[in-house]
Amino acid sequence: MAEALKISFSAPDLSKGGTLIVFLGEGGKLPDGVKKLIGTTAANAVHRAIEADGFKAKPKSALSIPAPHGIDVDRLVIIGIGSEKDRQETDYVRLGGVIAGRLGSARSVNVVFVGPSDWRVDGAAASDLALGMQLRAYRFDKYHTKKRDADQDKPVGVVSVKIGMLAFSDARRASKSGEAIAEGVILARDLIHEPPNVLDPVEFARRAAELSKLGVEISILDEKQLSRIGMRALLGVGQGSAKESRVVIMRWNGAKTAKATKAGPLAFIGKGVVFDSGGISIKPAGGMEDMKGDMGGAACVVGLMHALASRKAKVNVICAIGLVENMPDGNAQRPGDIVTSLSGQTIEIINTDAEGRLVLGDVLWYVKETFKPSLMIDLATLTGAVLVALGQENAGLFSNDDTLSERLSAAGKATGETVWRLPLSAAYDKMIDSKFADMKNTGGRHAGSITAAQFLKRFVGDTPWAHLDIAGTALGSPENDINKSWSSGWGVRLLERFVADYYEG
Ligand code: BES
Ligand code: MN
Ligand code: ZN
Repeated sequence: MAEALKISFSAPDLSKGGTLIVFLGEGGKLPDGVKKLIGTTAANAVHRAIEADGFKAKPKSALSIPAPHGIDVDRLVIIGIGSEKDRQETDYVRLGGVIAGRLGSARSVNVVFVGPSDWRVDGAAASDLALGMQLRAYRFDKYHTKKRDADQDKPVGVVSVKIGMLAFSDARRASKSGEAIAEGVILARDLIHEPPNVLDPVEFARRAAELSKLGVEISILDEKQLSRIGMRALLGVGQGSAKESRVVIMRWNGAKTAKATKAGPLAFIGKGVVFDSGGISIKPAGGMEDMKGDMGGAACVVGLMHALASRKAKVNVICAIGLVENMPDGNAQRPGDIVTSLSGQTIEIINTDAEGRLVLGDVLWYVKETFKPSLMIDLATLTGAVLVALGQENAGLFSNDDTLSERLSAAGKATGETVWRLPLSAAYDKMIDSKFADMKNTGGRHAGSITAAQFLKRFVGDTPWAHLDIAGTALGSPENDINKSWSSGWGVRLLERFVADYYEG
């Protein structure tokens, strides 16, 4: 992990100075383990402070006591964990975020991960705490030349965090995957925030190729190769840009059983439009800068691959991203153009701003034909319409497979990155039939997210497939306990969980 928080696990103890973090359930009494650790004088002082403040220990609330009487620490922070009922379903990732939000300018932090007996304090919980802390501490501020007030709770330099708990050796083991996930989410966030003059398709491909350090096989297809293969729908989107297009294929072979290998890899495909001006069907100026994030699907896929490879996931995975820039130009694609996709199907371009489906159609077809995957999941900031339908609370889920759908929904609930299934059907499919070609790239004003998904469906054959429209969830994320940046890196945690829960053995 880059810098910020250096988190380690050991037996609970008291160290001098720094910030001490303890947990408190509703009822206001420190757990016995904590009382023993800090001693009676300090425990009494803390109980007085709790009373004087009227602190109720509601879940994720915090009370900060500077220089508490009776222990040699700079600050004691009490984190509320609520009642017994709240405790059973504690979301440790979010709780970790709450802790990281309370560190102030601390350089060393001692978290006493001890609580009431009905509270789960195992290795997995500790790993989740650590993950939440890393995610909360993240800021994309590499282009700030001065520190801002708004970034006050971002740690400066290296802050060492010790999580003290009885099951510390379990935690050390479990935290390998927590760390891998944190790095994957942060990689996705970094890619999304990076401005489009810096992160063009070639640079994006170079950064994805860095995954080779983790044992991921990388191949980068350049325009000459893409043209030879026949990805003309994808190339058409990029042809108005001064920047060259790329497709990157990443392969992780971690499966340990012949059965898993025989079933075919899991495939994840990401839309990587590094900037979407709309092309000749140009977008209005207001908010156009957000379209630097139109590669959020590709960023998620790269972050996922990072997480899986760093924790050496026991599964075979293919990740593929289509990287283009959509720009207006004398050489740009026009409304009225007809392109022949890799699949052989022809597409009439109605609106050059419906470019994501053109990119994905070719990459989906390529992955299906080349790797015979057991399933395909694509992620794309595909339509503004999904924001109208679902806001920023759920990604739109479309699928030709109920089991796959249910698994994605379950992984969404488990991680808080939730999805909501929307329909596909022949009636919607008709809306994209074209007078002049096999299909057109827009389906009119109604059901915009569905007709976009119907379009993709024409490129997946019989492969079990799911499409996640993340235009609402990937960008302009509302701030919460585990994210204070413009993009939350949505989807990495969801898909990592999906793989871990159903496909590793
Ligand atoms: N990248 C946009 C979708 C988008 C909108 C992403 C808002 C994130 C936030 C996509 O390429 C697009 O422009 N879609 C059009 C489709 C239309 C022309 C059929 C849209 O949603 O308006
Ligand atoms: Mn567009
Ligand atoms: Zn787009």
